[in-house]
Amino acid sequence: MPTATNRPLNRKVVLVDYVKDMVGPEHFRIEEESAREPNEGEVLVKVDSISIDAFIRTSLNDVEGLHQQVPIGGTIVALGVGRVIESNAPGFAVGDAVSGPLLAQTYATMPAAMMQKIDEALPLSTYLGALGLTTGLTAYVGIRYVGNVKAGETVLVSAAAGAVGCIAAQIAKILGAKVIGLAGGPEKVAFLTDTLGLDVGIDYKNEDVDARLKVLAPEGIDVFFDNVGGELLDTALDNIRERGRVVICGAISQYNDHQHVRGPSLYLRLAERYARMEGFTVMHFTQQYGEAHAQLVQWLTEGKLRMPEQVEHGIDGFPAALRKLFEGGNTGKMLVKP
Ligand SMILES: NC(=O)c1ccc[n+]([C@@H]2O[C@H](COP(=O)([O-])OP(=O)(O)OC[C@H]3O[C@@H](n4cnc5c(N)ncnc54)[C@H](OP(=O)(O)O)[C@@H]3O)[C@@H](O)[C@H]2O)c1
Repeated sequence: MPTATNRPLNRKVVLVDYVKDMVGPEHFRIEEESAREPNEGEVLVKVDSISIDAFIRTSLNDVEGLHQQVPIGGTIVALGVGRVIESNAPGFAVGDAVSGPLLAQTYATMPAAMMQKIDEALPLSTYLGALGLTTGLTAYVGIRYVGNVKAGETVLVSAAAGAVGCIAAQIAKILGAKVIGLAGGPEKVAFLTDTLGLDVGIDYKNEDVDARLKVLAPEGIDVFFDNVGGELLDTALDNIRERGRVVICGAISQYNDHQHVRGPSLYLRLAERYARMEGFTVMHFTQQYGEAHAQLVQWLTEGKLRMPEQVEHGIDGFPAALRKLFEGGNTGKMLVKP
């Protein structure tokens, strides 16, 4: 059991300056301190993997936005998985694997009430990726309950080679839809069809998305699962089918300039085609978490769902890993193993 003299050194990523456009190493500093002893009801966790999520960027603005702001000098918010190395909480033992908001650091001392114990039948990082709140669960509720995807429909997914998109697109495929994925660059497009088994991939950086959609889906798109926003949202609206659904999961193209978010200019297509656009956050679906988790585990164990991971090693790599999300530098789930 660690004591005051041998408790490990925690290395944490703290915010140096609010981010106005592209996030970079200049916005962060690594600080070191002895990991804190857990108070009553707390556990000390050695972090195994940190989830690199788009929402982290929106917590770094100098204005309150979509997510709670990190204060200057504060440790960066992030979900993680790890292992309890010291416990002062009933029901949590040394060696237990847990997931929770562990922050961007190597050791976390936190209330056990903020942690969930996880079953180790699957690798720990799966609880951030395919089974993660901000990845697998988000994709599941977005496709199933917001998009209400049905067999035979045509589904378009943006950022389809990214974490949420990759799972959303595969779920739509499992449900029997024809799935078209949008991604940047020929390698990612090959990944969509060859690795994920989607019907078609479109390289939005090098192809005319509108022209391709008009050929691939002449009747229109039934469901657009949008992670990107901006220009691609307008293109999708122009191609939405009668009674189609646009699922606003996120708008990563807009997060670097939160003050000037570009709204859709073709929203009247919704009226013309009796279509609808609906936003959500995964937190609106707490009632569905149990079902989503069980279904995702089943698909994973049946080999129907895959979640490639891209891992950055070392906590110092956190800023670069986060930036990759905004430069298209990741395929699948981006993680940092500190
Ligand atoms: N509603 C919710 O509760 C919820 C929960 C979690 C996440 N989300 C949203 O889900 C989306 C995906 O998040 P994630 O964490 O899974 O990230 P991710 O998809 O793994 O990574 C982001 C991807 O977005 C694409 N991208 C980045 N900037 C772009 C731009 N300017 N234009 C077009 N594409 C761009 C890049 O792929 P390319 O190389 O293909 O461009 C990049 O790989 C985000 O919008 C996020 O906010 C929503």
